[in-house]
Amino acid sequence: MPAIVLVGAQWGDEGKGKATDLMGEDVDYVVKFNGGNNAGHTVVIEGEDGQREKYALHLLPSGILTPSVTPIIGNGVVVDLEVLFEELDGLTARGVDTSKLLVSANAHVIAPYNRTLDKVTERFLGARKIGTTGRGIGPTYADKMNRVGIRIQDIFDEGILRQKVDAALALKNQVLVKIYNTRAAEADRVVEELLSYADRLRPMVADTALVLEQALNDGKNVLLEAGQATLLDVDHGTYPFVTSSSATAGGACTGSGIPPTRVSRVIAILKAYTTRVGEGPFPTELDDDNGEFLRKTGAEYGTTTGRPRRCGWLDVVIGRYATRINGVTDFVITKLDVLTGLDTVPICVAYDVDGVRHDEMPVGQSDFHHAKPIYEELPGWWEDISGCRTFEELPGNAQAYVLRVEELIGARVSAIGVGPGRHEIIERHTLLD
Ligand code: IMP
Repeated sequence: MPAIVLVGAQWGDEGKGKATDLMGEDVDYVVKFNGGNNAGHTVVIEGEDGQREKYALHLLPSGILTPSVTPIIGNGVVVDLEVLFEELDGLTARGVDTSKLLVSANAHVIAPYNRTLDKVTERFLGARKIGTTGRGIGPTYADKMNRVGIRIQDIFDEGILRQKVDAALALKNQVLVKIYNTRAAEADRVVEELLSYADRLRPMVADTALVLEQALNDGKNVLLEAGQATLLDVDHGTYPFVTSSSATAGGACTGSGIPPTRVSRVIAILKAYTTRVGEGPFPTELDDDNGEFLRKTGAEYGTTTGRPRRCGWLDVVIGRYATRINGVTDFVITKLDVLTGLDTVPICVAYDVDGVRHDEMPVGQSDFHHAKPIYEELPGWWEDISGCRTFEELPGNAQAYVLRVEELIGARVSAIGVGPGRHEIIERHTLLD
């Protein structure tokens, strides 16, 4: 069976966890291929007693909650080992079996000094800050590219680990002390901390690219799940207000070791409106009551940092861009229910930049900063849609909205989220063949 890629179409928090969960039973492997514990998946699962349990996952692939799935942390991920074991312990305490988890030997480790550097750099940048999650993501990817990173496999060779930590700290301690005026990291303590995870980590570590190749050859379903989203991608996002990894479909291959020729479908998650956390341009952002309405109704507060998310109307210029950059074959629209109760529902169809209409993302970032949304207004609906399970059950105006979005973004809408629960979704086309 071929591999399927799942990406976010906007600035993250589109509800990927829910889509993964929807496919859960039919998927054999779920691979996280980029990012680290900067992500936040909230997954709501209904227990046998009908009670809803909410899980907030940051590092682990959301597939970990499905017993039949083998969850994999791919080589493109940066792993905070303390967080890894905290999340595993948390799930075990709630009765979730996590024993199938595999971690790539080539994934990089977020060393404690990189968490420190992330925070002090943001402070140093002041008004020019990125608004990172402070988890050490950027400095760890920078180390990877600078070839001074620590990999998972290094944890099992004390001599090598020591050499690598010493090499990294030779420069970093100068920066920490002389530029940021903070304390130097002690190599001994860093090595000791990282080594303390070795025994627990060892059984999980594998050549995950090889495992995945065998799985595909055996006809298994492999889902490659992106952290963050298209506009946070380090190449294709709103640089520099992005994360430091490849969050688009191309990153699924480099971050997992699965070649592009084995990917058959790219599913993108598009929230029915737009949100963003952190700094950076956001053309449809609303600073008024409508923004507050979206934040409250959609419970738009960060899973990782608790920050209130910036909210705005749906922007299909971004949606079209996501289709193009990722080669999207199917969209899942999430949180359509949040738009219930509006007189009209605006969709941003193009931008006005200094009097010039742009139907595509402007080439220059400065133009994107000045882009004024051009809206198309669609009639709203008031009916509770959370019980709808087929497209035809949706009110006529909600159907018209989805069909118009589908037309504008240029790929079919295969599923529509109508509420937070696992089953509160309409499947128009199966996500797995
Ligand atoms: P970093 O990934 O912590 O370096 O943060 C870089 C930017 O990406 C900041 O604007 C973060 O708020 C944003 N970001 C990182 N992870 C997520 C996510 O899972 N959802 C939404 N935004 C994110």
